[in-house]
Amino acid sequence: MDALLRSIEEKVRPLIGLGKVADYIPALASVDPNQFGIAIYSNNGELYHAGEAYNDFSIQSISKVFSLTLAIKHYGEDMWQRVGREPSGNPFNSLVQLEYEAGVPRNPFINAGALVISDMNQSRFASPHYAMREFIRRLADNPSLRSDKVVADSEYEFRSRNASMAYLMKAFGNFNNDVEAVLHSYFNNCAMRMNCVDLAKAFSFLANKGFCRHTGEQILTPRETTQVNGLLATSGLYDEAGNFAYHVGLPGKSGVGGGIVAIVPNRFSVCVWSPELNKSGNSLAGMTALEALSESIGWSVF
Ligand code: DON
Repeated sequence: MDALLRSIEEKVRPLIGLGKVADYIPALASVDPNQFGIAIYSNNGELYHAGEAYNDFSIQSISKVFSLTLAIKHYGEDMWQRVGREPSGNPFNSLVQLEYEAGVPRNPFINAGALVISDMNQSRFASPHYAMREFIRRLADNPSLRSDKVVADSEYEFRSRNASMAYLMKAFGNFNNDVEAVLHSYFNNCAMRMNCVDLAKAFSFLANKGFCRHTGEQILTPRETTQVNGLLATSGLYDEAGNFAYHVGLPGKSGVGGGIVAIVPNRFSVCVWSPELNKSGNSLAGMTALEALSESIGWSVF
């Protein structure tokens, strides 16, 4: 496995320079683009990694999976009255469907959907971001994980688009808490800094029928786990979900920090990271690395 990971790293490093680092906030635009990391964690607890697998980065939308998991644990099936389970076919920050679909976002991974989920978690926890941070620390087996305040504050400063979605949903009666408070929690969750090893470990419960081996906890039931993986396969990469299914064939979740997590059900959780993004906002080298990995090992679930 180590030799395979090194050969993939050699293959994708030359792609650095062809994408574009997220630049909607200065704090992300200043990241060194010349980085690539990969980590694989097996259900037996074996860890494989290559490149800058221990360099921290902003997890961004990958945090939406942790928020969804917390919401499922509390609200169960009831939550699906407020958010859908269909791919949007639109960019992650699109507003267009919200108006004609009466303020009910298509799925939990587009920004509108993640904001509704954050609103649910806001109703449940006294300190929603700290509850989330604690949950992520446990899942990653790393008590030092924290949110990057500069990134979170900058996202809040440039919040207009996300704020518009949240206020529109409030106008439709699909948002219960103070919008600004929910935005703060949401941005702090997105601004969590983690590395490929942290994320591979934190996502291992989705590869292991909901069981997290390092905490000994059943995080989700086996049924809930297959349901989350189904949503990740259909919506985890936004308007590139079809392309991801075609080339990689695994449930996955990306973030504009350049991380992508993928699940090989019953076997492995994987995280790749390289900061430069393609046109859909997904890591360019990361996508190619996952494709090469999945193809060489025959991982596609389809
Ligand atoms: O709310 C936002 O737009 C960002 N904090 C997260 C976007 C993101 O990571 C989309 N994923 N590719």
